[in-house]
Amino acid sequence: MLKPLWGAATSAHQVEGHNRWNDWWAWEQAGKGTGPSGIACDHYRLFREDFRIASSLGHTAHRFSLEWSRLEPDEGRWNEEAFRHYDEVFDALASEGLEPVVTLHHFTNPAWFAEQGGWLAPHAAEKFAAYVQRVAERYGRKARFWITLNEPLIYIYQGFLLGRWPPGEQSVEKGFRVLREFVQAHLSAYQILHEGSKGSECWVSIANHMTAFSPCRRNSVLDRLNLFSRNWFVNHLLFRALLSGFLFYPGIFSEKLPAARTLDFLGVNYYSRDFVRFAGFWGVQQFGTVCSKDHHPGEVGELNDLGWEVYPKGIYEMISSLRGFGLPILVTENGISTGDDRQRERYIEAHLKELGRAREEGAAIFGYFYWSLVDNFEWADGFRPRFGIVEVDYANQARRVRASAQTLSKACETILGKGHAGRTIPDIRGPGGGF
Ligand code: FCB
Repeated sequence: MLKPLWGAATSAHQVEGHNRWNDWWAWEQAGKGTGPSGIACDHYRLFREDFRIASSLGHTAHRFSLEWSRLEPDEGRWNEEAFRHYDEVFDALASEGLEPVVTLHHFTNPAWFAEQGGWLAPHAAEKFAAYVQRVAERYGRKARFWITLNEPLIYIYQGFLLGRWPPGEQSVEKGFRVLREFVQAHLSAYQILHEGSKGSECWVSIANHMTAFSPCRRNSVLDRLNLFSRNWFVNHLLFRALLSGFLFYPGIFSEKLPAARTLDFLGVNYYSRDFVRFAGFWGVQQFGTVCSKDHHPGEVGELNDLGWEVYPKGIYEMISSLRGFGLPILVTENGISTGDDRQRERYIEAHLKELGRAREEGAAIFGYFYWSLVDNFEWADGFRPRFGIVEVDYANQARRVRASAQTLSKACETILGKGHAGRTIPDIRGPGGGF
């Protein structure tokens, strides 16, 4: 019997510090971000303390990522010291009673990989697979839950359309190429992880960023048309492709994949909602434009520090929309950046309540991760955003547990159960399909 998974998430580059072998580090050094990640939260040294805090809060699980660039700092050169470090991370989690949920790719790439052209270069997915192979050999029996790719579409949006993140491209065509490569990377990783688990339990998925959408004009057929396309592409395309074995979007993709059903559960990251207005019928215009700020300042609820709307109902809507896939759901991220911890408490309570509602209606939710355990380096926004249930004083790396940490534990216990409370994960090989 498996205890419900709940706790908080982090990613390597955002918390570890001194990740100087990856492309984000190079980007920061070139002065392209808001500032360098530097020592970040020094989690590379302080992970034991951080896990102790999580465990003392009653968390049953922890989501984190392995830093590919540490494990393979040059192509084909494997850094045993870094492997030993993650051995210790897995051991520390085990001794704190935290089930590891491991992400293999969370936005960063080794510098050598990026210099070779990154995800646009030939054989990119194969290079990723070589890393996954090593990881599976070493840690395949230490973890049961794996996320191959974190938010592939956000990575592409920021790095290949907006150019705000490395590699700073602004090309729709390149973005679509990367998406295809990501799909191949996931397929290989799925297979490698299952082979590496050698018959022991192994659950693999992606962490898919889902955004709730509302039409700008309730009665506009055109707004709803663009909203439909946007929702399909942003929220469901990847789940559908990896389950059906067919990467399909009219006019953009039509490709039979070498494998189907390469998801054992659905990993969902949910933060906010956007209003969508009609922009056109073709190309990326068919996805509409976001007009929350321009047309809905009164309607949009409270905002977080980054200007994202707080819209708890969205988590219910997103999860309910996945019903047809017939797979269990893990909320791999949900959280708020705010300087006001009471706002964080409200956010957590409201979102978990909506999660509970979806669960009562039959959604097979088996876990929830708040983003994030500790305040950390928020990519292009640097250290200003404060997402943590644990505050970090960057001057001396001191941790202070916020009141919202207790709110999170209480809400998770109520909604998901305390641990060995007898709730089980639904049958992962159950009937899927329906798409
Ligand atoms: C998600 C990312 C995570 C963090 C949060 C705020 O999109 O996966 O790394 O930046 O947003």
